[in-house]
Amino acid sequence: MKTKEWALLTGASSGFGVDYAHILGERGVNLVLTARRVDRLEELKNEVISKYGVEVKIIPADLSQTEDVQKLFNETEGQGTHISYLINNAGFGVYGDFLDTDWESTQKMLMVDIMALTQLTKVFGDAMKKRKSGNILLVGSIGAYQPCPTYAAYGAAKAYVMNFGEALNSELRGSGVKVAVLNPGVTATEFLKVAGQKPTAYQRLAMMKSRPVAEVGVKAMLAGTPSIVPGFFNKIMIWSSKLLPRVVQTRVAHMLMN
Ligand SMILES: NC(=O)c1ccc[n+]([C@@H]2O[C@H](COP(=O)([O-])OP(=O)(O)OC[C@H]3O[C@@H](n4cnc5c(N)ncnc54)[C@H](OP(=O)(O)O)[C@@H]3O)[C@@H](O)[C@H]2O)c1
Repeated sequence: MKTKEWALLTGASSGFGVDYAHILGERGVNLVLTARRVDRLEELKNEVISKYGVEVKIIPADLSQTEDVQKLFNETEGQGTHISYLINNAGFGVYGDFLDTDWESTQKMLMVDIMALTQLTKVFGDAMKKRKSGNILLVGSIGAYQPCPTYAAYGAAKAYVMNFGEALNSELRGSGVKVAVLNPGVTATEFLKVAGQKPTAYQRLAMMKSRPVAEVGVKAMLAGTPSIVPGFFNKIMIWSSKLLPRVVQTRVAHMLMN
């Protein structure tokens, strides 16, 4: 990484987003932090500046709103701050049987997890392609690999993220723009609390710390790895489930969530 480069981190107010800020700050990359909770972003900004001496800008945005997504582009590239690293990390899940969940929450989730991620990739990807240089990380989930009862819409959204990212990775080969998808398993962030789920026995057993997961993501982004699952246990789960018929994979996934 060269100095004076800028990264845009979505979902920088908690969880993986905070780790990305430290990992990139340590490497001397300037940061644009975005999320809705500005107090948290201010705290992170002060910490990162004092630890690593990089420049940090905050752009508050609600990614369920299309105009806020465009604002991120206008207030960075539009003002001469070229983004070399786009980390499409913001996202959340809605836990529960689909028909029992609240539509407004699901709609917002799809706006953030799919629409905002796609729109950001489009506008910043275009700018990167013109410069023949840039790296994009999309944060998916191991939920992308099979249907996810109790997270039906969330798991389907993450399957979109994985397929979209892997396709772009191939389309952009040789263009100077690298795209990678990170598919984490359950990780100790605010995810489960926001989703409204108490961790199951399986989730407690499988839970990883967030920093090593974020490190795998940054490494994949720099290498342009099409997609990656962090952690030995998560890898085993994915590979062993591939050996089962899909209907059995779905039942097992359902069982592990209860
Ligand atoms: N932790 C896990 O077990 C796990 C597993 C697989 C995948 N993931 C994925 O990892 C990514 C990061 O999640 P996390 O685990 O770090 O959870 P987290 O601690 O809850 O962080 C989620 C981040 O997304 C932001 N966000 C949510 N809704 C937003 C909105 N409408 N507008 C703007 N920002 C919004 C939140 O910021 P504000 O609330 O301040 O806006 C927060 O910074 C997500 O894409 C998630 O699906 C997590």
